[in-house]
Amino acid sequence: MSIRFDQAAGTLSPAGPTLTRRMSDLEGLFRDQNSWRTAVADGDPIVYSVVSSPVPEIDRELPQSITTIHPGTTGGEFWMTKGHQHPNHQGEIYLGMSGNGGLLMFDGKDTRWVDMAPGTIGYIPPGWAHRSVNVGSEPYSFLAVYPGGAGHDYSWVLENGLGQRVWRQDDGLAFVDYFAEV
Ligand code: 6PG
Ligand code: NI
Repeated sequence: MSIRFDQAAGTLSPAGPTLTRRMSDLEGLFRDQNSWRTAVADGDPIVYSVVSSPVPEIDRELPQSITTIHPGTTGGEFWMTKGHQHPNHQGEIYLGMSGNGGLLMFDGKDTRWVDMAPGTIGYIPPGWAHRSVNVGSEPYSFLAVYPGGAGHDYSWVLENGLGQRVWRQDDGLAFVDYFAEV
């Protein structure tokens, strides 16, 4: 089968489910909770969306999805995905499509960061929790391909964090320990 992605419209055809995550869906994830609350009250903006292909998320299938993270910061922290662990500890690949972002990975001990630009393949080994971050001023989009039986565990990140956080600093970025005091 072939699937067509309309980059301008952000749609897949044929289409599977589409997910939109607003600021209110990212509870407990930004370090500056006051800024997060203000952003929720102040229009609750869309932070990212995920369009999926019609391939089902079941064992032995190989589904794909395209995530687009809008540019922005909350309390200085770049806009990002919630982040998750695959409970079945399966690997995943990302392909940068547009904009500038990064792939933050954490295995409970070590942290890794991969700069993602159009054409970059980011590999997530089994057992590494992962989060995507838009570090640019344009929307950041990437394709993800993952085993259909991988599952998504969001509570793992709430409990264990992702090792580091990514902040806007001057014209660039800075990393700080995930649970460091402000
Ligand atoms: C996956 C991928 C990817 C991810 C989105 C949204 O396993 O499906 O890692 O498609 O789900 O980028 O990120 P969150 O799932 O962390 O919200
Ligand atoms: Ni994943």
